[in-house]
Amino acid sequence: MNQYQLPTPEKKPEYVKTNFDHIAKAYDRFNDWNSFFLHRKWKNWIIEKAKREIPDIKIALDLCCGTGDITSRLSRMPEILEVTGLDFSENMLSFAKQKIGEGKNVKLVLGDAMNLADFKNDSIDLITMGFGLRNVSDLKKCLLEIKRVLRPGGVFINLDVGRVRPFFLKWFADFYFFQIVPIFGYLIYGKKHEMFDYLPHSSTTYPDQETLQKILFEIGFSEVHFQNFVFGNAVGHVARK
Ligand SMILES: C[S@@+](CC[C@H](N)C(=O)[O-])C[C@H]1O[C@@H](n2cnc3c(N)ncnc32)[C@H](O)[C@@H]1O
Repeated sequence: MNQYQLPTPEKKPEYVKTNFDHIAKAYDRFNDWNSFFLHRKWKNWIIEKAKREIPDIKIALDLCCGTGDITSRLSRMPEILEVTGLDFSENMLSFAKQKIGEGKNVKLVLGDAMNLADFKNDSIDLITMGFGLRNVSDLKKCLLEIKRVLRPGGVFINLDVGRVRPFFLKWFADFYFFQIVPIFGYLIYGKKHEMFDYLPHSSTTYPDQETLQKILFEIGFSEVHFQNFVFGNAVGHVARK
């Protein structure tokens, strides 16, 4: 690993917001390059999974929507009447607006995923989150908010990084993630930026797939299960309220 130091929990929200604002223009291409375009497949999996888990979805919320990849997929589901993409980075959201436009069934709002005060209890059928949960400063607080606003029977689908288990693969995966991925970021952005070091390093304080499953059960979700992608490099968790 290189010498990068993560921000303290107190400084994390401002750090994350400001730095996503900085790298927003490079974010989509960075995602394509560092995942060999696989993140698109994983995001399609969220939609397929959502259709299977809740056939009658009407209201959906995509937290930490960033440039709107998942929000735009949700907006194309004919059964969904209303989808909101929420993020606290204005620049990421402005790219989402360019990508999706704000149609009659899509809202893109500036907000904090840890404080969903604008959303009523038990009001949402589906909440999605892609590579956002490891960026919030209080994971449990965020999950409790998600549970509060989901309707009983509603589903939370979370996609984020996981732990690669086989030891020899873990060595390669870590080398790629911590040493090569930041270089893709610098190349696409045009110069060095610490956010491309933050992104892999933020996985070190994020729970592994089994621990996150346990946390989701502890918070009160049921039917919690997960799907590993590429030996656990990425993981999709599904949890029902
Ligand atoms: C890695 S990007 C993921 C973007 C998109 N969901 C995707 O899968 O491509 C993480 C996003 O989370 C947002 N974010 C992090 N913490 C947040 C919070 N507490 N509230 C709202 N947005 C947050 C950042 O601004 C950033 O746009």
